[in-house]
Amino acid sequence: MAPRTYRICTLPGDGIGPEIIAEAKKVLAAVGARHDVEFVCTDQLIGGAAIDATTEAGGPVSALPDTTLEAARASDAVLLAAVGGPKWTNTNAGAIRPEQGLLAIRKELGLYLNLRPVRMFRALVGASSLKPELLEGVDLLIVRELTGGLYFGAHEREWGVEGAGGNGARGEFARDTMEYSEYEVERVVRWACQAASRRRGRVCSVDKANVLETSRMWREVAHAVGAEFPEVTIEDMYVDNASMQLVANPAQFDVLVTENTFGDILSDEASMLTGSLGMLASASLGDGVALYEPSHGSAPDIAGRGIANPIAQVLSVELMLRYSLGMDEAADELSAAVTRVLDEGWRTVDIADELTAADRVLGTSAMGDKIV
Ligand code: NAI
Ligand code: MG
Repeated sequence: MAPRTYRICTLPGDGIGPEIIAEAKKVLAAVGARHDVEFVCTDQLIGGAAIDATTEAGGPVSALPDTTLEAARASDAVLLAAVGGPKWTNTNAGAIRPEQGLLAIRKELGLYLNLRPVRMFRALVGASSLKPELLEGVDLLIVRELTGGLYFGAHEREWGVEGAGGNGARGEFARDTMEYSEYEVERVVRWACQAASRRRGRVCSVDKANVLETSRMWREVAHAVGAEFPEVTIEDMYVDNASMQLVANPAQFDVLVTENTFGDILSDEASMLTGSLGMLASASLGDGVALYEPSHGSAPDIAGRGIANPIAQVLSVELMLRYSLGMDEAADELSAAVTRVLDEGWRTVDIADELTAADRVLGTSAMGDKIV
């Protein structure tokens, strides 16, 4: 029988992007061989790389060419590295910037949910600013609503402007509105419950229902949706308490679901539990093709030196296997492989410390090989 085929749109982007995406492809090829699946990866342009190529071709200059968007839409999943760098930062006002490519692709693919898993690798506990005993068993998943709430209030929806303001009796004022529809809440909470039913069965819905009307609705909807999942327990937590609990007792959480602004803040807070940017992956999901990427940027300071940590990129492959391709077993194997490599003491420079033996420090490509 011919192997199953998946089309992956790969977006190397800028800086260390091409170096780490190469390792992701290596890992994918190994997963494919084990599971009799063929991954057809096709590189497309995004970010600074797209700006340069479209400029050279005589324009129109774009950080997200149509060909890239079409390829993304026609694929089973999109795997992005990172975009940006000083080369494209100091240009004139009005110039196209690499980051516009990122925002555009998220918008065009209708990605309304952002996922950030935060998990402790035992071997790296020393890198965190928290005490090791607090990190025991930390394995949480933050599900953030991505296209509603304060960042997309009524003003933006109706008039296409950010926020609103004017002149009042006591001078200028500004206004942002938080608005949610039941539908927007329902779809993210349902996704969180589904994820929890495949994990430890617990959802913590974070809101500010003691103050905000949108939060009161959020809470009601969350419980109505939660009732569809008898195997999942759903509890509520105020966001101020949640931000404290994340550093006081992070191991209590399984899946955390919350609105856009709260999720933005809480996911950055939670990402620091692991203490290392080179280890964190994220996924953005919608109703169609999803996008997977490391949480870090293009690290221009170390680009081209072969020392970048490819693990966040590899863990974004894990998320892709799990959430777009239904390959949970392969995802578990990949996560186990990364854990084992770290347990054996292998490190890239960014996660090495004084206890790391000199011959255990690997370059980007050698780290990819170890994981394979
Ligand atoms: P950054 O995440 O690229 O780098 C911050 C620091 O972490 C640097 O010292 C870098 O060397 C290090 N680092 C990051 N990833 C690493 C890895 N995999 N292995 C080893 N070390 C790593 O953030 P920065 O410096 O603020 O931004 C650089 C460029 O990246 C900017 O143009 C920024 O706009 C862009 N950026 C892009 C993002 C994306 O594509 N999603 C997200 C964040 C920033
Ligand atoms: Mg943020």
